[in-house]
Amino acid sequence: MKKSSEVASPRGTEDILPNDIPMWRRAESLAHELFERFGFKEIRTPIFEETHLFERGTGEASEIVQKQMYTFKDRKGRSLTLRPEGTPSVVRAYIQHKMFVNQPLQKVYYIGPMFRYERPQAGRKREHYQIGAEVIGCPDPSTDFELIHLACRYYNILGLREVSVKVNNLGCKDDQRAYANELRDFLKERADQLCPDCQIRLERNPLRILDCKMEECQRNIQDAPTITSSVCADCKDHYENVLAYMKDNKLEYAEDERLVRGLEYYTRTVFEVVHGGLGAKDALMGGGRYDNLVEELGGPSTAAAGFALGMERAMMALTSEEIVPHTERRADLYVAAMGAEAKRYGLSMAMRARALSFKVIMEYGQRSLKAHLRNADKVGAHYVAIIGEREAEQGVVLLKDMLTGEQSELPLEGFVEQFFKKLTDETGGPQSL
Ligand code: HAM
Repeated sequence: MKKSSEVASPRGTEDILPNDIPMWRRAESLAHELFERFGFKEIRTPIFEETHLFERGTGEASEIVQKQMYTFKDRKGRSLTLRPEGTPSVVRAYIQHKMFVNQPLQKVYYIGPMFRYERPQAGRKREHYQIGAEVIGCPDPSTDFELIHLACRYYNILGLREVSVKVNNLGCKDDQRAYANELRDFLKERADQLCPDCQIRLERNPLRILDCKMEECQRNIQDAPTITSSVCADCKDHYENVLAYMKDNKLEYAEDERLVRGLEYYTRTVFEVVHGGLGAKDALMGGGRYDNLVEELGGPSTAAAGFALGMERAMMALTSEEIVPHTERRADLYVAAMGAEAKRYGLSMAMRARALSFKVIMEYGQRSLKAHLRNADKVGAHYVAIIGEREAEQGVVLLKDMLTGEQSELPLEGFVEQFFKKLTDETGGPQSL
């Protein structure tokens, strides 16, 4: 006999079990509805891409490309990677399908799994789900504001209260280069006091040192210069406009000069939404502007911005605020048929009732009436249609209202139509979602 661990899901992955599905479905359907109300259209891209897309898109020096990609060779020796994030894929699709020709401004969103080889812990998985939104083709600061507003609105309708927004201005690539040099100069003398990872970052990508969680690095960057002083006038202006829109619309935020984000493509505005229940380091959502990426991946020079939010973290936040998941639609009717003849009647009754939009549960095995009633109770059925041998012989159905305990006898012939009328009179029809 195999030990149960031999058939466990891979480390860092999780099953979403039926009891949790209502919460996930609600999160997804609210996203579809809300994002479309903001003018976004859904896009679906492959789960795997050619590896170089992420090397160029997410960035060679990023933690993701350095350490976290699930990369493999296919049978023809091509290097492929399970997508660690959605942004490069969306940009690739925008370029590949020349989406800019008919409509230079594209607002798209996606929902799906992403893969990162990380050390698994609460809210940090090797497979996680994201809901992402990208606006490609608009350099205007109102886009940055609209994206932050969309994410906040989403958390709001989910019911979350303990969310807060952090923003920062990373400037353009020239500003970032100037700042990287300044930071490198500042940290050079203390290089040996940084963690081994940051000693490497110091050469490759010193901005990443700012959000290193190691105590020794935090200590050393305390008095480091911030990026704000390196940002050029145009980028400053852009950012001021974003903040002004936030103020106009009473969207609260905190500026965080140490917010640099882990992906290499960002320019100008970057933002995160954090949640009190997740611990300091884990963001619910992250995003920002990436004005160079479309061109870097071979497309026309095109400004863009976007964000992605983690669904597991949204679920954790909902749990921490004790927000009860959307309850499952309860069954209108449970068909309890006992005996071969009764089962035939029961089956066609269930089929007809489902055609009239009722949610109907029927258990097909041989069971006592007591066991059927117990099951009906478990699935939260409103009514039970009991057909035993006597009922089948006499052409009747015993209808039990599980909420009041009342029972009535109805003719089998035309039962579904009568039941439909009864439920419509009593409750307005089949239970809606
Ligand atoms: P990101 O910050 O790497 O950004 O990920 C977005 C969100 O996904 C995070 O805020 C977090 O909620 C969730 N997340 C990330 N990694 C994990 C993990 N290992 N386990 C669970 N949840 C995770 C991006 O991916 C960018 N593509 C966002 C973006 C879109 N920027 C512009 N457009």
